[in-house]
Amino acid sequence: MSHVPRRYDFHDKAADYARLADELAGLLAGETDWIANAANTSALIFEALPDLNWAGVYLLKGNELVVGPFQGRPACVRIAMGKGVCGAAAARRETIVVPDVEKFPGHIACDSASRSEIVIPLISNAALLGVLDIDSPRLNRFDTSDRHGLERLAALFVAGSRL
Ligand code: SME
Repeated sequence: MSHVPRRYDFHDKAADYARLADELAGLLAGETDWIANAANTSALIFEALPDLNWAGVYLLKGNELVVGPFQGRPACVRIAMGKGVCGAAAARRETIVVPDVEKFPGHIACDSASRSEIVIPLISNAALLGVLDIDSPRLNRFDTSDRHGLERLAALFVAGSRL
């Protein structure tokens, strides 16, 4: 299979996220392996969105998050529930948008280039499976449109994948 990601300029974020969601649905169609789909979801997001330095998943194992498929620099492997942005989003089971990581108490700096971040919990049938973490070297990179668009991509990934 060969997949060439489309180019998006994100001038119209809602429209581009809708197209990206269609593209992700096509990419995941016919495959339910969770790790494979996490890898391709991370790769598509990293390729399609401007100004990212990390995109990937952490899986919940016991009471901690363990790094899974991602794009970007090597990352911290284990994050305790409640720690960092990832652990906080997992514990609260809600998306956290951090406009300036230096102002988020307890932020874990895996890549010193990161300036802003969004973490989306991955939940299936009320069970927390992990988080989708996306970092940017640009301050205030993620707005409400990004949040909605990325939550939609995360939901598509979870709905189409089995652990
Ligand atoms: N910054 C995250 C840690 C994961 S890395 O960014 C890949 C956090 O504070 O949880």
